[in-house]
Amino acid sequence: MKCVDDFRWRLGAKERLPIVIGGMGVDISTAELALEAARLGGIGHISDAMVPTVSDRRFKTRFVKDKLKLYKYNVANADKSDVRFDLGHLAEATRLHVGRTMAEKRGDGLIFINCMEKLTMNAPKETLRVRLSAALDAGIDGITLAAGLHLGSFALIEDHPRFRQAHLGIIVSSLRALQLFLRKNARLERLPDYVVVEGPLAGGHLGFGMDWAKHDLAAIFGEIRDWLAVEKLAIPLVPAGGIFSGGDAVAFLELGAAAVQVATRFTVTRECGLPDAVQQEYFRATEQDIEVNNISPTGYPMRMLKSSPAIGDGIRPNCEAYGYLLDTNGRCAYIEAYNREVEGHPGVKKVSVKDKTCLCTHMRNFECWTCGHYTYRLKDTTHRRDDGSYQVLSAEHVFRDYQFSKGGSINLPPPGGAQS
Ligand SMILES: Cc1cc2nc3c(=O)[nH]c(=O)nc-3n(C[C@H](O)[C@H](O)[C@H](O)COP(=O)(O)O)c2cc1C
Repeated sequence: MKCVDDFRWRLGAKERLPIVIGGMGVDISTAELALEAARLGGIGHISDAMVPTVSDRRFKTRFVKDKLKLYKYNVANADKSDVRFDLGHLAEATRLHVGRTMAEKRGDGLIFINCMEKLTMNAPKETLRVRLSAALDAGIDGITLAAGLHLGSFALIEDHPRFRQAHLGIIVSSLRALQLFLRKNARLERLPDYVVVEGPLAGGHLGFGMDWAKHDLAAIFGEIRDWLAVEKLAIPLVPAGGIFSGGDAVAFLELGAAAVQVATRFTVTRECGLPDAVQQEYFRATEQDIEVNNISPTGYPMRMLKSSPAIGDGIRPNCEAYGYLLDTNGRCAYIEAYNREVEGHPGVKKVSVKDKTCLCTHMRNFECWTCGHYTYRLKDTTHRRDDGSYQVLSAEHVFRDYQFSKGGSINLPPPGGAQS
């Protein structure tokens, strides 16, 4: 019986372990987590979601305070079209976050950044160009284009000196999305270096409708693999979503995957950005505690714990400080939902908004507990203490478990001590 360690992914000049830790915004996949993946010979992701905010927390910069100061006059205004990102500051924050992470990299692995198109930031093209370019400037090994079709994203950086040298990949959830991307980018004569095929069991936003349960990762993966073979396109495929054990990973590697992308198992590691108390919520969750809902203003369904404080909360929109989901017209579906509730409940101090959430504020504060479908199995990957809490794992333990375990088995950590 094989284990993941029997496989390698030749990416660039070197062979890597075919384990990719997926991007988890906002700073759930921290630099520490990505650095562990790289140190252990795999690939880790940091996220480019709300990087100015992440930079403030990580480096004591003042990007958010300064932006809020600039737009304070607009806080009570329903129209947010004035609220813009300073592109210079955005570039600076991205260079800091990426540059410091890359400077700390050890080992043979790689560090990529997950870049979401749905962060439209009141100027989608301009802000995306800055985020992509600044990450390349700061030496990121690769960029994974996520949450969107990214039909124009390669063109935004085609003149960057590292455009043909950095590893560039895209996440798709269907063959059609991949075909569109390839067609739109044909003139650039630059194929993606890898394609993450993300199925319906993943965490975060889903590339499916509310009928997600009718879709199956293995089927989508097989369809894309066979089409690429017919087209004679040698693009490595990286399946993601619900790959919970080393055995699950081997099954995909034997079907021709170059690597697997995983995330949920790492949400309960010390290096992950989720606060301790939230990690315990993830451990405790049962299958019935998890739902896919439509409260993300992006329009994509999102999977999360039903007990997320973000659900039903009616906080005033914080676009002057954040504003990452404002569209080209300065609109966000949460602002509309919030204003509707305020108008419908005159005199009420704090309204409840059920259909949408202020994703920026709640993701920033770790109050939107997005998670993968198999979060309810995390309790089986560790020890339960006498007081009922679960022992947090180390990223190295989880990574090694993916690397060496066989069949569907999952190795528990040594009890107590260094792992807690
Ligand atoms: C907590 C959490 C947050 C996530 N956030 C993002 C994100 O910001 N961008 C993205 O492209 N994918 C995101 N994902 C998806 C992962 O990168 C990954 O592809 C997927 O969850 C893998 O499936 P698994 O969690 O079942 O292992 C997130 C997943 C989790 C669990």
